Amino acid sequence: TKPHVFITRPMPHWLTEKLEQEATLDVWNKNEAVPEEELVRRTAEADGLFCTVSEPVTRNVIEQAPRLKIIATMAVGYNNIDLEAAEEKGVKVAHTPGVLTETTADLTFALLMAAARRLPEAMDTIRKNEWGSWAPFAFTGQDIYGATLGIIGMGRIGEAVAKRAGGFDMNILYHNRSRKREAEERTGAVYAELDELLEQADFICVLAPATPETEKLINAEAFRKMKKTAVFINTSRGTTVDEKALVNALREGEIFSAGLDVFENEPIGADHPLLSLSNVVALPHIGSASEKTRRQMADMTADHILQGLHGLSLTHEAPGK
Ligand code: GLV
Ligand code: GLV
Repeated sequence: TKPHVFITRPMPHWLTEKLEQEATLDVWNKNEAVPEEELVRRTAEADGLFCTVSEPVTRNVIEQAPRLKIIATMAVGYNNIDLEAAEEKGVKVAHTPGVLTETTADLTFALLMAAARRLPEAMDTIRKNEWGSWAPFAFTGQDIYGATLGIIGMGRIGEAVAKRAGGFDMNILYHNRSRKREAEERTGAVYAELDELLEQADFICVLAPATPETEKLINAEAFRKMKKTAVFINTSRGTTVDEKALVNALREGEIFSAGLDVFENEPIGADHPLLSLSNVVALPHIGSASEKTRRQMADMTADHILQGLHGLSLTHEAPGK
């Protein structure tokens, strides 16, 4: 009998057809996160789990799945998966780095520009029929060209953002656990201590993975160190920021604006405190969402499932601790 694969989202035909040649599929046919109980119940029958950023693949899920061989997430970040439990049970974990780097860097830059120049707020004025006339000081924002960019987390995406910043003649500071000398050479980015970066940067982009070390890395104290004109961008994970402190900093004018693609608890709705602020640009976690990239991520995830079922080495195994 064919192995059994649980897929936690509706998927296009080309993808299910590819997997169906070798596996029996159980597909969660809603564009919502699978509730924990359901995730446990359906993964318990599975040899492979095809998941997304929204499913917490906990020890509980893994320990109740005796046949499970492979967890493949359609994401670069895998903080939602208990790697320790997976390793103990001999379950391999795969993710999708590389293919989404440029797409996510594009989105990061789009958010940076939208938050600097107040684009959604400006568009709203037309939508609400409130555009009276050209106004000398309406919707004035912050200049991007020639400003100082601070990148926190100089991985692949951080470097791709730095490359884009070069075209805007930005000065680039970065902070990372370790120096990235090759990235420095390629982009002209200069290493800075975190405090120095927070104090000097006009734009601060968080591109660090969610780990215990980066949890609430950007807290109330960090926002107080930023310039009052600073634009804060997060396209990594909501957990890297103290969200209450962010709301406070935006409300009190400790910073100019924020562009956010990720939140502490996703999804958020219109009733979230951040949405009551006009200086926030908020997106529903779409960093890697270009048509081409999402297809590549799905295809790579399917390949990981097949590799895992066959006991082959994975193209991108999630690095452990
Ligand atoms: C999305 O957030 C990802 O990690 O790919
Ligand atoms: C992800 O691809 C990163 O390393 O930034």
